[in-house]
Amino acid sequence: MAQLQSNVVRDGNGGQIKFPVFISQADLDLIEKEFVVEDGDVFVVTYPRSGTTWTEQMVHLLVNHGEQGEQRLTDAVPWLETLPHRPGGMIEFLKTMPQRRLFTSHLPHALMPPLRDTTAKVIYVARNPKDVAVSTYFHNQSKLGYEGTWEEHFQEFLNGDVGCGPYFDHILPWWQASQKDERILFLKYEDMKHDHAGNVARLASFLDLYADQGLIDRVVALSSFKSMTSNETTNFDWIPQKADKPKHFRKGEIGDWRNYFSAEQSLQMDDFVIKKLKDSGLQFDFGDGVTLPS
Ligand code: A3P
Repeated sequence: MAQLQSNVVRDGNGGQIKFPVFISQADLDLIEKEFVVEDGDVFVVTYPRSGTTWTEQMVHLLVNHGEQGEQRLTDAVPWLETLPHRPGGMIEFLKTMPQRRLFTSHLPHALMPPLRDTTAKVIYVARNPKDVAVSTYFHNQSKLGYEGTWEEHFQEFLNGDVGCGPYFDHILPWWQASQKDERILFLKYEDMKHDHAGNVARLASFLDLYADQGLIDRVVALSSFKSMTSNETTNFDWIPQKADKPKHFRKGEIGDWRNYFSAEQSLQMDDFVIKKLKDSGLQFDFGDGVTLPS
């Protein structure tokens, strides 16, 4: 069976985690040493498959007055961890960025470059772990050479043996940080699905951007699943992926996990969620009116 293609990197807390194969410890060391957060920077941070691309698009459109522009989303909102691979290197690339720099990142909180006393902001987006597990399974097959079964992937997900480390080790420190620092906005994928326009307005307000109803409507339209799938600057068709597996934009729904989880796996995940989120103040919507911890 082809294993997940990954690298092992330090997690910032004395342990180690898996990271996508094309990001090395040397890349993370360079970012730690040389990337300096500046006033006005915006970071969209997520555990993979939680709505990163969707949020990038909303932020990109809001900052650019509803104009898509010609750049691919991966250039307009570059992935922090891959900056060392940009032609000419990270520092040269940063010189080409507009004044209000937008980045995306999958870094755990402990590895994130410090915001210091800047006006930089972080939008952290979280998604219920059942849908993340399913979405990650297809992502790993399509883009990272994974050939394990769903059951094998499910166990690896529970064990944290997947890209960007254990799910709850990512979510919880970011959740706690968002409770203490008003420069960090914690959003949920499910809330964005239920109230897309309301969350666009919330993003605009968080970023101190004036957005009238016309701009909000435009951002909602251009960041819909359908629009992003058909737009060649947002659809990620340029990313190497297997033709016989689902694309980056797969279903975009809440509750698709029901098509893959057995009853036993669902209970196992419920126990895990309740144990991890107990007393955290954080809850997830799993679709069909199920919220945990309830
Ligand atoms: P599914 O695999 O469940 O379809 P990320 O961008 O963090 O990698 O997340 C990818 C997930 O977000 C995929 O989930 C994808 O379909 C979904 N997604 C991307 N754009 C979306 C949009 N505009 N609306 C809703 N879901 C979206």
